[in-house]
Amino acid sequence: MKTVQTKAPGKLYIAGEYAVVEPGQTAIITSINRFVTANISPSATDQGSIESIGFTEKPVKWTRVNDEVKLDNSVENLKYVLSAIQTTEAYLVEKGISLVPFDVKIDSELDDKNGEKLGLGSSGAVTVAIVKVLLEFYGADVRDLLVFKLSVLAQMNLGVNSSFGDIAAITYTGWIQYTSFDRDFVQQYRANHSMTDTVDAYWPRIMIKRMKVKRKVNFLVGWTGSPASSHDLVGAVQDKKAQTDEQYNHFLEESKASITLLTIGLEEGHPAKIKDAVDRNRKALLEMGANTDVVIETPLLTELCNIARKHGGAAKTSGAGGGDSGIAFVFAKKHIKPVIDEWKKHGITHLPIQVYKNN
Ligand code: PMV
Ligand code: MG
Repeated sequence: MKTVQTKAPGKLYIAGEYAVVEPGQTAIITSINRFVTANISPSATDQGSIESIGFTEKPVKWTRVNDEVKLDNSVENLKYVLSAIQTTEAYLVEKGISLVPFDVKIDSELDDKNGEKLGLGSSGAVTVAIVKVLLEFYGADVRDLLVFKLSVLAQMNLGVNSSFGDIAAITYTGWIQYTSFDRDFVQQYRANHSMTDTVDAYWPRIMIKRMKVKRKVNFLVGWTGSPASSHDLVGAVQDKKAQTDEQYNHFLEESKASITLLTIGLEEGHPAKIKDAVDRNRKALLEMGANTDVVIETPLLTELCNIARKHGGAAKTSGAGGGDSGIAFVFAKKHIKPVIDEWKKHGITHLPIQVYKNN
């Protein structure tokens, strides 16, 4: 067994947030050119180790007990890594692969070096990087759909509130249209079936499709600080959606219409359609936030949008909001600098991020 290295990109939500938490709803998400890198090599002893730069002071030792990796001392920071290892190995054991001790090292460009969370999908990227590096290390087949499903199962074990659209974008890369699957079905199916059967099963309603976006389409990312916990925000919306049943269904319809329009706009590179779609999705999110009492667009994110609009662009929050990032489509090169400069004056940091696509 040899040393293997793999990397997984970060992600950015473009449209369809919150709605995509409902099975059958679609979001547009991209992967970005910042990465989590995972290195794995066989260990010289019976013990293995996990090192995550910036998260562990030194390698954390682990021992395998009944075919399952157990940390010698539990480390909360490593919960995504551990769950990804346990899930992937459970699958490999079913395939008849003999497990060995290994040392794994993780390095992330997705977290600010000052420990600030940038909301670029570090937990998803760490999960995908670990699943991939283990499949490669043990010489198993590395198909995108398999990596996606194992990564999802690893996070489901942790009870994460997510549509798993982040995992789809990180695994498939590029501009992705993601329709979320029936999570209850998968969870119940897994409870009664092997890991292999679960990943081989059809997950109702799932769709992951790479889009053909015109090259000239450009967007800027502005970071407003005060990162939000997507898990908590999604939980708050889910708790309150029943009280606003009719409005919530209207939100889902509006989100769906925005995604259809945005898909056409992006694939045609048509500014007016992109603008209409972004405005419509933003409006739907604002209303839904007001109806459920969840602040998605903070005052600084509103400022971010206003500045982009002033320069002819279209902008909205990206992801769960409540701080974090906003995205702005700009339709002329000459507008890029003024938007970035004005953002800066208001304390909004431009993140120089581009869409990343592997081949
Ligand atoms: O805040 P982010 O970038 O993790 O995105 C969350 C997107 C939501 O639709 C609000 C939740 C989800 O899991 O789809
Ligand atoms: Mg976020």
